Amino acid sequence: MKEMMNSRNRDRDQLCLAPDGRPDADQPAWRKDFPIDWPQDHYVARRDFTKFMVLVSLGLTIGQFWIGLQNHLRKRRGKPPMMKIVQLSEVATGGTFAFNYPAKQDPCVLVRTGAETFVAYGQKCTHLSCAVVPDTKSGCIHCPCHEGCFDLQSGRPTAGPPRRPLPKVTLTIRSGAIYATGIEERTT
Ligand code: FES
Repeated sequence: MKEMMNSRNRDRDQLCLAPDGRPDADQPAWRKDFPIDWPQDHYVARRDFTKFMVLVSLGLTIGQFWIGLQNHLRKRRGKPPMMKIVQLSEVATGGTFAFNYPAKQDPCVLVRTGAETFVAYGQKCTHLSCAVVPDTKSGCIHCPCHEGCFDLQSGRPTAGPPRRPLPKVTLTIRSGAIYATGIEERTT
């Protein structure tokens, strides 16, 4: 209790009178937002930080609600869910990121082909389901089982036994993250 009183007295000691001599309640709004006293400055900093946190939380909540709504509508239309794959900043140009979509047992791979360009495919080879491996340098998605090759940009077979293209994952970018929005099974 004594400590609290001392703290209040210290705070009061640090307050100074506004240049026009009027009490705080009569000061213009700008003076309250840019105080010259430490206690008031700390109060404004805490208040602004709280406002910032509330806005960030609100943005995240709205974002999650929007994704939930989209997924509900997609489910009703028989479409696969929209799913966040990874933050853009986590995949370097020429880099890859493995994920599962639309179900946990469906391996896929995302490739960042340029600063702003991405492709993603199902990772099971269309010949005998071996796991394919993208090679950005050669532009080929390679299947080590029988030396199959798929074009990196289109997912279509270019060499070896595969005859059908890899399933293509459709992508969208929102708020610095990459989302899968669907998967196209192709025959040609
Ligand atoms: S399983 Fe891929 S080429 Fe045979």
